[in-house]
Parts: sequence; structure tokens; C-alpha cells
Amino acid sequence: MCGIVGYIGKSEKKEILLDGLQELEYRGYDSAGIAIIENKQLKNFKAVGKLQNLREKTKDYTSQGFGVAIGHTRWATHGKPTELNAHPHMGAYSFVVHNGIIENYQELKEELQAEGIEFLSQTDTETIVHLFEKNYNINNNSWKSFQQTIERLEGAYATLLITEAQADTIFFAKNGSPMLIGFDGEDIYFASSDTPIIGRAKEVYYLEDGEFGYVKDGEVKLFDANGIKTFTKQPLPTDKALAQKDGYRFFMEKEIYEQTQVMNDTMMGRVLDDRIYFEELDEKLFENIDSIKICACGTSYHSALAGSYLLERMAKIPCQVEIASEFRYKEPLLNDKTLFITISQSGETADTLEALKMAKRAGLKSLSICNVDNSSIVRESDSAILTRAGIEKGVASTKAFATQTMVLWMLTLYVAQAKKTITQDTLNRELEAMRHTPKALLVDDKLHSKLTRLSKRYLHGHGFFFIGRDLFFPLALEGALKLKEISYLHAEGYPAGEMKHGPIALADAELFTVALMPKTIHYDKIKSNVEELCARDATVLAISPDYFELSDDFIQTKYDTHPMLEFFEMMVITQLLALEISIRLGNDVDMPKNLAKSVTVE
Ligand code: G6P
Repeated sequence: MCGIVGYIGKSEKKEILLDGLQELEYRGYDSAGIAIIENKQLKNFKAVGKLQNLREKTKDYTSQGFGVAIGHTRWATHGKPTELNAHPHMGAYSFVVHNGIIENYQELKEELQAEGIEFLSQTDTETIVHLFEKNYNINNNSWKSFQQTIERLEGAYATLLITEAQADTIFFAKNGSPMLIGFDGEDIYFASSDTPIIGRAKEVYYLEDGEFGYVKDGEVKLFDANGIKTFTKQPLPTDKALAQKDGYRFFMEKEIYEQTQVMNDTMMGRVLDDRIYFEELDEKLFENIDSIKICACGTSYHSALAGSYLLERMAKIPCQVEIASEFRYKEPLLNDKTLFITISQSGETADTLEALKMAKRAGLKSLSICNVDNSSIVRESDSAILTRAGIEKGVASTKAFATQTMVLWMLTLYVAQAKKTITQDTLNRELEAMRHTPKALLVDDKLHSKLTRLSKRYLHGHGFFFIGRDLFFPLALEGALKLKEISYLHAEGYPAGEMKHGPIALADAELFTVALMPKTIHYDKIKSNVEELCARDATVLAISPDYFELSDDFIQTKYDTHPMLEFFEMMVITQLLALEISIRLGNDVDMPKNLAKSVTVE
């Protein structure tokens, strides 16, 4: 995920920016850059790859005296990780850095290009700086031009702009992406999170959505749609490690809470009013394709399974899912009318990569769904859709799974609209549900404390079964995997209807069953399956919008109108349950024993 640092004051600016960006490294990035205006002189450096490369490029440069400075680490979303695409983006006399996605950038870009403005990068961000300069060239007033620019932006942004036209000022705006202002006397800092300014600033103000303004002469002028605002600073936390986790106990916990936010990024520019749009896909991708095969490992395999239900049901395209390590050696029969999809958080999983190479050798078209641009799997694929989950640090995957599943849902609708397998009414209903997803992913404090309390009852026993049907079977597999990975308790995911064909033999009070009982998919069927387990004295934790009186423990969900909203709401519950059990058992949640985040060996 991208990071922003800004500074206005008299100290050495290069070091403030580079040190600040270093503190944001843990978020992941693929290029970085800085821009400084001092004595009305603009300096700009960019480098692809690690920050060390940028340090190397700037080693002979030092900044002295008063000036303004902005820096950025970029995690590619629009366009490849190249120097041209790295921020700060440049106009004729101004520079901008930006986090988030400008949804209407295409429209703005076309408008600017029609007036003869040339774009150097493939990014959405570059439109901001050109729009600003276009306004300035007309009205000769930087503040007015900045306001007019912000008014035109749709989507999420946290942005800083500096310009030779007003070289003693930093302009800022925030809507949907985080940004804060740090204070230490006359020195004023900006950052996309606490860590870059801890140890430098003493107080902080966390900007709210819709706020914008400028800093000049050691003073912040803050505005929102209603005009100028006052604001209250608060003391800045001092613990960097804690700040990286945004106050959460573990990265996994932070990532569970982050899901609501990253889902907006995943959907941005893709979920339009009346259709799904993938800028990165060639419209011909599905021409001559009559089936889909998806290969993946671990959690990504589970999202693939969920996707296969959606693709067959709504896009009416046969879809087979295989575990990559199995696929590699089974001598699979492949034909070139099959689209080969790989799913991977890291883009480096050896088995998935090899499966992809095999499919390519067999002449199949390939598409990857991945969280890391420029990773081996993305580079190897004909096309790629980035999940935009941001860096995931917890070894047990959470937000990557959520965003992969979302991309598969979007892809389903994309194929369905192209093949006309669903009506516009159905499509509209799906899009409406999609827009509600971030809400379904919100972690409710009451729910979290209930799970913390419940977790103490589930620390022993001879195993867990997570059961579900249909789409909720892959979710049961994923719920069980989460628990296994971080609690080291035995857990299995099973199709609820299959329990009676064997596993029910294990049922007794020490067998814990987590039953996923959505209202919108086969509720009566799963209810009967759970009743069969209750009759054999299994201990049941039921998750459902409808009260289930036979269960020992019950968690009531809110959504009962769309399967995917139920899916995401229940997903969060299973993640939190695993987290709380693991914490009670005293395990290292973020780095479970024997596991690696990215498995690059066979
Ligand atoms: C490892 C990780 C899992 C992950 C799997 C596939 O086993 O611990 O969390 O699901 O690899 O990784 P990928 O990066 O390809 O999604």
C-alpha cells in the first residue's frame, strides 16, 4: 500500500522524507520518490525497487534552509512499477503525491489531453497535478486552483501538492485514504500513518474525510465543505511497533479490521453504476473460451472454490478448481478453449507458478488474480487483476482472501454481462449488494467481545468441524484453515451434507462444530444437517441470522438478503474466532510455527 510523507520547515528535508518513507516500508511498495522546493528551486528524485535505490540517487543532494517537501512509496495499482509511474508526479512547475484511486481519472485525463496536455505516466494521480496547473494558468491563484481541483476528484484520496507558484506552502486533501498532520513548533509534517513522524512531531491531528487546506508560515488552515474549521491536536503515540499495528495487538487483527477499507480499494473504478469494468482486461479475453480452470494453494485455493460456485451459477461457464501441487503431476488434459486462472496473494508460490507455466505451454490463455504487481505470477500471465489488499503481514491470510473472493465475484459478473447470462435487473441487484460489502466487513465491538468470551470454551476437545453448504463450504474450509494455522488445534472444513457419510461417527460433546447457516442458501438443508449432529451430542456453535435453539452457542448475523453479504459477514466471525482462540492459547498469531507467508519451494 502506498505511503505518504510531507514536511514544511527549516530542517534537512531529504532525510526527513527518506527516514519517514523507511518507516512505511512494512506496508509494501515497488517504487519511491521525493520532491523538494527550496529557494524556489524544485528537486525531484525517483527510483524503482527498494528505498536504498532512492538513497543512492540522492546521496549527493542535501537541502538547507526553509522549504517544502513531499515523498511517496508506491504500490502499483494503475500502471506498472516504473520510474515514470512513481510519485511525486510532475506538471510544469508543481508536484503531487497521492494515495487511493481517482475513479474519474479517465474522464479527467481525456479532458486534459484534449486541451493538449501531455501525460508522462499511466497513473490516475497525474491528473491531479495537470488539473491544478490548468486552473492556475487561468486564475493565477494557487489556493483557488487547488480547491477547484479537489472539487473535481471522485474516489479516494490523500494527497499533497507543492508548487513553484507558491513555494512556501503545502496543499493537502483527504477523502477515504488516511492522512495526518504532525506538529513540532514551526515544523509541520504530513504522513499516511503515525510511524514516519514518531520521534519528530509531538502532536498530531488525524484528518477526517472531506477535509482539505494548506500549511503556510507554520500554520495549518483547515477546511471542509462548510468552510474553515478549527481542530484539536492530540499527543502523538511514541511506540513505533505499536503504531505499525495501528494499535492492534497483532497484524492479523489489524488486517481483519482493515478489510472494510481495502474492499473499497478492490472495487474502486471497477464497480460502476450499471456494470463491472476491468481496465486491465482485454474485451477479447473471453472470446473462444468455453470453460475456466483455476489453480491455487492454501487460502487462495479456497477463494477459487468459492469463485467456481459463482462463475457456474451466474456466468454459466463450467469452472474447475485444482490445488496447484496436485495439478502439476496429474498429467492434466488441457485444451485451448479453457481460460487458465491462477490465484495467489504473493504471486510467488512455486506450485502455482509452475502450474501456470504448464498451462501456457499447453497454449492456454492465462489470467492471474494477485495482490503483488510485478510478481512472478503476474509477469508470467497474459493478464492480471490486482486484488489491492495492500501488504499482508500476518501469515494467516485474511484480507487477501476477502479481496480475492471479491475479485472473483466481480469477474463472474463481468463474464455474465458479456455473455448476457443475467438480466440487467439481476446485475443491478448484485452491484447493489457489492456496494454493501464494506459494511458487512465492519467489525462490531460487541461481536468481537462476544467472540473473545466464547473463545475460552473452545480451547480443548478432540477437534473442530467447520461445516457449510454451497458457497459456504469453501468458507468452512477457510475457517478451519485459519483455526489450524494459528491455534494448532485440529480443524476440518466439511460440506455439511457429507457429515453423515463418515465424520458424524466422531460426534460427541468434545467435538466442536462451527455451523455456517446462512439464510439465503439452503437454510433448511443445513439446519437438518446440524440437527443430526446435535442429536449425537456434538457441541455446536451456530452462526446464522435466524436463531437456532439447539445450538450450544449462537452468533447472530445481520445480513440475510444476499449470499455474498452473509459470506463476508461470517468470514469475519470465523477469522476473529481463530484469532481469539490463538491469543488465549498464547501463540504467536502473526508468525505461527512451521508456516511461511510465501512458499517459493515445491
Ligand atoms: C502459504 C501461506 C498461505 C497461503 C498459501 C498460498 O502456505 O501460508 O496463507 O494461502 O501459501 O499463497 P499465495 O501467496 O499463492 O496466495
